[in-house]
Amino acid sequence: MPPYLFAEIDRRKRAALARGVDLIDLGIGDPDIPTPSVIVEKLLEGASKPVNHRYPSSSGMAEFREAVANWYLRRFNVKLDPAKEVVSLIGSKEGIGNMAVAFVDPGDIVLVASPCYPVYHIGTAFSGGKNYFLPLRKDNHFLPDLESIPTDVAKQAKLLWINYPNNPTAAVADEDLFARVVKFANKYNVIVCHDAAYTEMGYDDYRPMSFLEVEGAREVAIEFHSLSKTFNMTGWRIGMAVGNPELVSGLAQAKSNLDSGIFQAIQEAGIEALKLGDQVVEPSRKIYQERRDILVDGLRAVGLECDKPRATFYVWVACPKGHSSASFTAKLLDEAGVVTTPGNGFGEAGEGYVRFTVCVDKERLREVAERIRRVKL
Ligand SMILES: Cc1ncc(COP(=O)(O)O)c(C=O)c1O
Repeated sequence: MPPYLFAEIDRRKRAALARGVDLIDLGIGDPDIPTPSVIVEKLLEGASKPVNHRYPSSSGMAEFREAVANWYLRRFNVKLDPAKEVVSLIGSKEGIGNMAVAFVDPGDIVLVASPCYPVYHIGTAFSGGKNYFLPLRKDNHFLPDLESIPTDVAKQAKLLWINYPNNPTAAVADEDLFARVVKFANKYNVIVCHDAAYTEMGYDDYRPMSFLEVEGAREVAIEFHSLSKTFNMTGWRIGMAVGNPELVSGLAQAKSNLDSGIFQAIQEAGIEALKLGDQVVEPSRKIYQERRDILVDGLRAVGLECDKPRATFYVWVACPKGHSSASFTAKLLDEAGVVTTPGNGFGEAGEGYVRFTVCVDKERLREVAERIRRVKL
C-alpha cells in the first residue's frame, strides 16, 4: 500500500519548514477562504440540540437529501427523488472509496483516467479489481479516448470514472464527451461514476454541467458531489452521491455497514449552504478567478507553459525542458520555496507536468512568479 500522495509531500514540506524556509504552499487543493459565517452559525445552533447528539442515519437526514434534490433542480434542472436517488457522504472521498467496496469484485476491471484524483484507482486496488488507465493528454484536451479501449477490456469493465471539471488538469468537458460516455456505458454495460466536485468553480461566466443533464445518463450513472470546494467546507466532511437509484442504494448499503453518517448539526449547516447556493459561492468564485489570472499571467511571464483554466482552482503547468515532474517540483521547493504537486503523482500520464493551486492570497501568488524568475530553470 503506497502512502497517500499528500502524505509524502507533507513530509517534504515539514523538512523545508524545519530548515526555516518561508514556503508558499500551492500543493494541496484546500480553500484558504473561511466557510461563510451564516453556515457556521447553523452548525453552532445545531450543535446544542440533544437530538443531534445521537447516531445519524448513514444515508443522511431526509431534510438534507431534500436540500440536495432542490439544489440539483435549481442548479442543473435535474429532478431527483430524495428518498431513492440521493445519499449523503462523509465528504465525497468516502463515497468514492466505498463505491469500489459496493461494486468492484476481485478481477473486475475499472477504467480510470491517468492522471486522476488517486482515490478512484486506490479503491479498485483495495477491492482486488484491476485498473485500466486512460491517458489524458494535451492533444486530446485532457479527455479520455474511449475508442482506444480494447474491446475485451471494455467488455470486462465494471466501472468508468470520469471527473470534469478535472483535477489535476483543470480541463473541462462538454456535452459531447458526456453523450459519448453514455453510449459507451450502454454498449458495454459499464457503470459511470462522475466526480463533479468542481462544478461550482467555473470562471468567466462558464457554468459546468452535471453528467445527469445528458440524455440517458440516469440509467447508467452515479454522480459524486461535495460541499467541500463549493462552500469552502473541506474540514467539515460533507458531500453526496446522486443518480441511478440502484447505484445509490448499492453505495448506501456498503456505507451502512461501515459508517454511521454525518453529524446532524453539520447536515443542518449543509442544508443552509445548499439553500443559499450561488449567493455564498459567487464571492469565492470572484476571488479564485482573480488569483487564477495573477498566477497564470505570472507563470507565463517567466516562460512556463499553461492554459488558463475555465474551472477548478488548479493550474496544470508543463515542466520546462530538461525537467521531469519530480525534478521540477523539487527545484521549486528547494530553490523558490514554492510547494507544488508533481504531475506523475496523479498517474504516469501526468509525467512532464506540475500542478499549482491558487489557495493562497493574491500578494503571495504575485510573489510566486518573482521567486521562480530568480531560479535558473
Ligand atoms: C476530484 C476530487 N474529487 C473528490 C475530492 C474529495 O473531496 P471531499 O472528500 O472533500 O468531498 C477531491 C479533493 O481534493 C477532488 O479533487
